Amino acid sequence: MHAAEAATRGLFITFEGIDGAGKSSHIDAMAAHLRASGRSVLVTREPGGTPLAERLRGELLNTPMDELTEVLLVFAARRDHLTQAIEPALSRGTTVLCDRFTDSTFAYQGAGRGFDAGVLQQLESWVQHDLQPDLTLWFDIRPEQAAQRLSTARSPDRFEQLDTAFFHRVRHGYEQRARSHARRFVRIDAGLDRESVASQVADVLKARGW
Ligand code: TYD
Repeated sequence: MHAAEAATRGLFITFEGIDGAGKSSHIDAMAAHLRASGRSVLVTREPGGTPLAERLRGELLNTPMDELTEVLLVFAARRDHLTQAIEPALSRGTTVLCDRFTDSTFAYQGAGRGFDAGVLQQLESWVQHDLQPDLTLWFDIRPEQAAQRLSTARSPDRFEQLDTAFFHRVRHGYEQRARSHARRFVRIDAGLDRESVASQVADVLKARGW
């Protein structure tokens, strides 16, 4: 392909937050908005997004395992997802909306479980080289409020069963990530009602002309 024919790279937007922050419905709304403005959009998630990574997701969410195994499976799933779905989509100009990405690993396995952040950084650069999201929306909510929302939802997976202290550490992990990656992180106050959260998300897109 000649350089002039190469598609403009798609945007890579990720959605983060503790369980119960309520990000999912806002991902669908953003996809609809971006499609209406003429973009092609891929909505995907981690762990998951390819047949292999979805199988690994099933194990990660349901099978007890040690911390290193968990980290390696998360990154194995991510590698497959990147090479088979995310990178090809971005290269053909498709905008990728991904429900969770590597910030989840730093927050859950790093801050939550206490796994060595230096090792996570090494795996991150092995698996994704210098790929980082263009924008990360962090749906921030108090763990107590999130737990209340989850208690009315379906039966909890291996992560959702963890105690409030775990989610306080995860939230702190996101705070640190937001500080060290301030250019791409935007904090959304996810403790407010649904409409207010939706309008915060809409404002972020408007501010970027998307
Ligand atoms: P999510 O899709 O938000 O869960 P749900 O299907 O309940 O909406 O995320 C799945 C779980 O995986 C979530 O509890 C966080 C966890 N997770 C990690 O621990 N590390 C990671 O790197 C990722 C991507 C997810």
